[in-house]
Amino acid sequence: MADKASLSFRGETYEFPVVEGTEKELAIDIKSLRSSSGLITLDPGYKNTGSCESAITFLDGEKGILRYRGYAIEELAEKADFLEVAYLLIFGELPNKEQLAKFHSDIKAESHVDEEMKKILDGFPKSAHPMGVLSALTSALIAFNPSAVDVTSEEDLYHAIVRLLAKFPVLVSWTLRKKMGLPLDYGDDSLGYVENIHKMMFKRPNREYRVHEEVVQALDQLLILHADHEQNCSASTVRIVGSSHAGLFASISAGISALWGPLHGGANMAVLEMLEAIQADGGDTKKYMAKAKDKDDPFRLMGFGHRVYKNFDPRARIIKKAADQVLGQLGVEDPILEVAKGLEKEALEDPYFVERKLYPNVDFYSGIIYRALGIPIDMFTVMFALGRLPGWIAQFREMRLNHEPIGRPRQVYTGENYRPFKPLNKR
Ligand code: ACO
Repeated sequence: MADKASLSFRGETYEFPVVEGTEKELAIDIKSLRSSSGLITLDPGYKNTGSCESAITFLDGEKGILRYRGYAIEELAEKADFLEVAYLLIFGELPNKEQLAKFHSDIKAESHVDEEMKKILDGFPKSAHPMGVLSALTSALIAFNPSAVDVTSEEDLYHAIVRLLAKFPVLVSWTLRKKMGLPLDYGDDSLGYVENIHKMMFKRPNREYRVHEEVVQALDQLLILHADHEQNCSASTVRIVGSSHAGLFASISAGISALWGPLHGGANMAVLEMLEAIQADGGDTKKYMAKAKDKDDPFRLMGFGHRVYKNFDPRARIIKKAADQVLGQLGVEDPILEVAKGLEKEALEDPYFVERKLYPNVDFYSGIIYRALGIPIDMFTVMFALGRLPGWIAQFREMRLNHEPIGRPRQVYTGENYRPFKPLNKR
């Protein structure tokens, strides 16, 4: 017999079905809670609330497991490339050769961004934060691709997806190039997806474009590691905006804004700023450990702790190794890496961090690699968005194909009860 959970309240007992996931997680299905009992649940931050059933990404924060569509992140990072992973996340299976070639050629066919979009970019000051620019440009794409907005069939959805996968890297590169004062350009369809992204970002006007193979590999791996992370703040944003049947581009634009915050994707930028500040202050990691533990000090050790991982973030392990490799291959000696290693060692031995299960997260090392690749600090979160794009798309697609209802949480009202209106002269 299927499990049931019961709730007793004011002498009545209510029964609810228990749903079991393929990894044996259990959830009480409370769809009938309010209609049967008049109660709702209260769970700020949704720490105990499943917003959907999803077959995309599995993570076990206690064991430090992360899998996309059943495949371990460690294996994907080592054996797959970013485009294969994007296909896997979005469509559920690793592509065969023909499927991958078609996917790539469909993307290449859409890699042009309307020249008029450059005028919109022109309107931003150079000092504008790239995440704001990227979110605005992604939203502006809607005006230039109206047929990708109100998608109802799977075929239309596919076209919207390949368009976005094609145009988004162009927007990312334009955002960077504007910051660096470089002419805007388009990609080179003869290259692989990630190498093309690198070229679009870094090609200099008067120089032949050359790149170390290891750099492309590191970038590919970083993008894979960021590609999805189940129902986090930005993915939930994408799903909830999309649940109103706003289009894919509008939903992704909202996801970019959600990712921007320093408690989410913005942490990679905050980590580097923190490491630089510690270095400039003499590199005294102990002083900053003490600040992080002091409850009267708002300082937090950026890049440590995670809402879900209460164990080592598996992505952090891979990135740490990649950071060592890339810096070694490029011959970069970065004192920031020493500060990072010092902090990590101290935190892993410190009872405050051990008791609270605060381990380095994905952002702790990614910024060091981005810096070695020559990416400015305030572009770090944009790089995260580039990696997360397939995940957001996969979440949007799943939400639409499952015909999920519009997302609309309830609340417990704690404001004033009814009071009569007070005219201005009596206030
Ligand atoms: N430094 C110092 N103390 C910390 C840190 C930190 N980085 N993170 C959590 N704590 C402490 C809290 O003060 C709290 O202590 P208390 O129990 O004595 O009050 C305890 O650990 C639990 O922390 P919460 O904030 O309740 O944990 P929550 O799950 O809500 O937050 C979060 C997770 C936001 C990631 C938090 O750990 C944090 O702010 N980390 C730094 C920012 C960061 O690196 N964000 C990136 C996340 S990964 C990503 O989005 C890709």
